[in-house]
Amino acid sequence: MTARSRASRLGLVLAGAALALAACGPDQSMLSPMGANASRAAGLWWLMFWIGVVVWVLVTAATLYALVRRRRDRHDPLTARRWENAPLVWGGIVLPSVVLVLLTGVSIDAMRHRDHPDASQATVVQVIGHQWWWEVRYPERDVVTANEVHVPAGRPVRLELTTADVIHSFWVPALAGKIDLVPGRSNTLSINTDRPGVYEGRCAEFCGLQHAKMRFRVVVEPESSFQDWLAAQGTSAAEPADDLAARGRQVFLSASCVYCHTIRGTAAVGSVGPDLTHLASRDTLAAGIMPNTKGHLGGWIVDPQQVKPGARMPSSDLPPDDLQALLAYLGSLA
Ligand code: CUA
Repeated sequence: MTARSRASRLGLVLAGAALALAACGPDQSMLSPMGANASRAAGLWWLMFWIGVVVWVLVTAATLYALVRRRRDRHDPLTARRWENAPLVWGGIVLPSVVLVLLTGVSIDAMRHRDHPDASQATVVQVIGHQWWWEVRYPERDVVTANEVHVPAGRPVRLELTTADVIHSFWVPALAGKIDLVPGRSNTLSINTDRPGVYEGRCAEFCGLQHAKMRFRVVVEPESSFQDWLAAQGTSAAEPADDLAARGRQVFLSASCVYCHTIRGTAAVGSVGPDLTHLASRDTLAAGIMPNTKGHLGGWIVDPQQVKPGARMPSSDLPPDDLQALLAYLGSLA
């Protein structure tokens, strides 16, 4: 092999490794735990991984040994028969039983010992799954938002999760294990981390056509920033600052938007889609699938079915001037 082809092959391998690593960036990997419960899950994963490695090595060694042995014993049927049963009993019954009982035991132990603060010790956040977005409520402060869960760093957070329709699963790999959102009941999950940052999460239970586009983010922030955010989210929507935004509000209130969305402080009190009172304060649109920019918002309003087929948001045929006014208004809802 020439030096040049060796270098290009190395380049290919490195590019492949970079792609593979990019696909599991630190913010969305359960192997880079940033919280107490996530650390426990990661520890369990590594224990299972290394036991798996040992079992694989043993099985491979036994297979190779059997191949060699068989050849040597071909002409000695008596020795061969003596060797037949012992490995079957030890390798086929005793060892798997011990491994399975051990792994079941440590899994149950990890589940029992995960952080589980009750409502009096923790910040309570209610999460309600919808096809295909997340409603997020802070009952103590009467705050409602969507697809973004803000939590304070260094304090336990108790998530109470349920669903408005089918079963979903809340999973933010770097911060906590995953848990299903089941119709008719409330499950809990806790987050406890002292590492501020933005952590990606996603729905981990197939829930229909747009399951893969049901993402969210958990924003862990210092206590003071969290309190500021909470206070801002608790206010009614900002009054339009100029004529264009005022016209945009009129467009919103006279279109079908009001049947599905709430903007606190206005006549819009729908509850089918996300609360838009502070839409402009969120980083993403349509459950984490695109950045919250004027262009993306305009495209989403005009033809959501193009972006997320099956979503309950209908297309609109607003005249261009009305659309511009509406975008100015929604963009002012910080
Ligand atoms: Cu919700 Cu998958």
